[in-house]
Amino acid sequence: MKILAIETSCDETAVAILEDGRKILANLVASQEELHRRYGGIVPELASRKHMEVILPLAQEALKKANVTLKEIDAISVTNGPGLIGSLVIGVSFAKSISFAQGIPLVAVDHINAHFLAVFLEEKTPDFPFVALVVSGGHTALFLVKDYLEYFLLGQTRDDACGEAFDKVAKLLGLGYPGGRIISRLAEQGNPKLIPLPRPMLDKNNFDFSFSGLKTAVANYVNDLKRKGLPIPIHDLCAAFEEAVVEVLVTKALSALSATGCQNLVVAGGVAANKRLRAALQKLAQERDFRVFIPRPEFCTDNAAMIGVCGYHKFLRGEFADLELDVYARSQFKRLS
Ligand code: KG4
Ligand code: ZN
Repeated sequence: MKILAIETSCDETAVAILEDGRKILANLVASQEELHRRYGGIVPELASRKHMEVILPLAQEALKKANVTLKEIDAISVTNGPGLIGSLVIGVSFAKSISFAQGIPLVAVDHINAHFLAVFLEEKTPDFPFVALVVSGGHTALFLVKDYLEYFLLGQTRDDACGEAFDKVAKLLGLGYPGGRIISRLAEQGNPKLIPLPRPMLDKNNFDFSFSGLKTAVANYVNDLKRKGLPIPIHDLCAAFEEAVVEVLVTKALSALSATGCQNLVVAGGVAANKRLRAALQKLAQERDFRVFIPRPEFCTDNAAMIGVCGYHKFLRGEFADLELDVYARSQFKRLS
């Protein structure tokens, strides 16, 4: 069974072709990083126009790479939310046209569901149930995942998403966009213990997060040094910020494991590509009694292979969308009752 998967929810145009929900025949990502860099963040209008320009040639290239024709494709899956509306509309319209023209099923995929299913592209896969920590530019949330398509929200951020905090801190330090990778690289040469920063929400007995206070603490620290005419210790500051984020994420994830009785933790989304976070979790998993599953970095950041995995499981269950399929900006997650 071959599925063509499309992802255009944010600033990556991505197309993948998967066989039987696991074998990647093609996986292409056209990043718009260059386009948005000079604005220090994503400009939605430009993002949609770029998706429109790139999507068809990218899909043609994917078919060529996979050495399959459109006639051999059995279904098409596409992200229809959450994300930027104008961007989602491009991918969804494109997917609808192919579904209509080829007479093949259309499958709608939730981007967050797809993020944590990216782990099924790896050799080592978790058993259900597991706890999923999704940390991306738009989301920071913990889920109890009972099956591929059955998951419940345990907690989420009350303000900024984790990746968004990385991006905003990078911007205020004048480091450029997107911030996560840049901060992480600079942090490698810094000492995380020199600058005290808060660990928001760690004192709260729940699974919610908050990152805007941490960003403000960095801003205050920087402004104070500037007022005094002192240099900003960029490497140490990046390391301290990264360590604060990692400590909050790790602590909340571990308490979600013990509260749910799960032994498997899946981490996904762009921030899961972060080396310090990966290392901290891998170390803890060895010391304590749990197993951690983190997709390789290119499956953590936005990609269409993960849309193919999720689409495949919906296809197997006959969960097809019709040609009136709409898009949505935010997900309404179910909570455990
Ligand atoms: O999942 P993703 O590619 O897109 C969304 O769905 O939002 O996540 C992008 C986010 C950005 O905020 C980016 O700064 C962050 O992931 N990110 C990282 C790293 N690589 C990407 N954050 C920390 N460390 C990284 N290595
Ligand atoms: Zn994402």
